[in-house]
Amino acid sequence: MDTYLDTERLALRHFTADDADLLIELDSDPQVMRYLSGGEPTPPEIVRERYLPNILAGYQKWGGNLGLFAAHEKAGGAFVGWFILRPAPQGPLDEVELGYRLRRAAWGNGYATEGSRALLGKAFTELGVRRVWAETMTVNRASRNIMEKLGMTLTETTPVPDDMAMIEGAEHGGVLYEITKEQWARR
Ligand SMILES: CC(C)(COP(=O)(O)OP(=O)(O)OC[C@H]1O[C@@H](n2cnc3c(N)ncnc32)[C@H](O)[C@@H]1OP(=O)(O)O)[C@@H](O)C(=O)NCCC(=O)NCCS
Repeated sequence: MDTYLDTERLALRHFTADDADLLIELDSDPQVMRYLSGGEPTPPEIVRERYLPNILAGYQKWGGNLGLFAAHEKAGGAFVGWFILRPAPQGPLDEVELGYRLRRAAWGNGYATEGSRALLGKAFTELGVRRVWAETMTVNRASRNIMEKLGMTLTETTPVPDDMAMIEGAEHGGVLYEITKEQWARR
């Protein structure tokens, strides 16, 4: 397994063309998709024909340094989900989005915080990143807790996009958190 990043309990690696089933299974859990699609699974053909090819194309584009990364438990090797560290489309390479989506079986262990903390460190010390942002729905408390534990600051509230308007809590909008390299260094 190629390793992108190691934490105490997790190993992050690049996805490969053989990983469609992992992504399909992850997105088939209504609890995982609750604040992303209102619980609707991602259709398997979308994962195979769009998501996975985009992930692999991202590695080409960013030299394997940025994109979506599969996370596994070091003990036992179980797939726990993915993390993202990725610039906006057409955005500068030194401003990247942080995100995470974990299998329900892996929740509640501090994994999202552990993986994100290590990604922030890598972004600011190795990848030349100057600013990291993260977005979630206002009501996604678990996701916001992670951002707050990472020392990120709430900088904006945003309306949720039209295609997410049917999701429970959408009327409360979304939140944008960010942290700069200077803030991270002072934390
Ligand atoms: C959000 C998610 C990544 C959290 O993963 P995790 O590994 O369980 O997160 P952590 O254990 O690192 O931290 C979660 C924090 O939120 C808290 N929390 C978890 N679920 C919660 C809930 N429903 N309500 C309030 N707080 C909650 C935890 O107690 C923890 O805080 P603490 O350390 O202060 O106790 C995981 O639930 C997930 O993948 N959800 C589905 C996808 C998703 O919503 N991704 C974010 C979209 S922006």
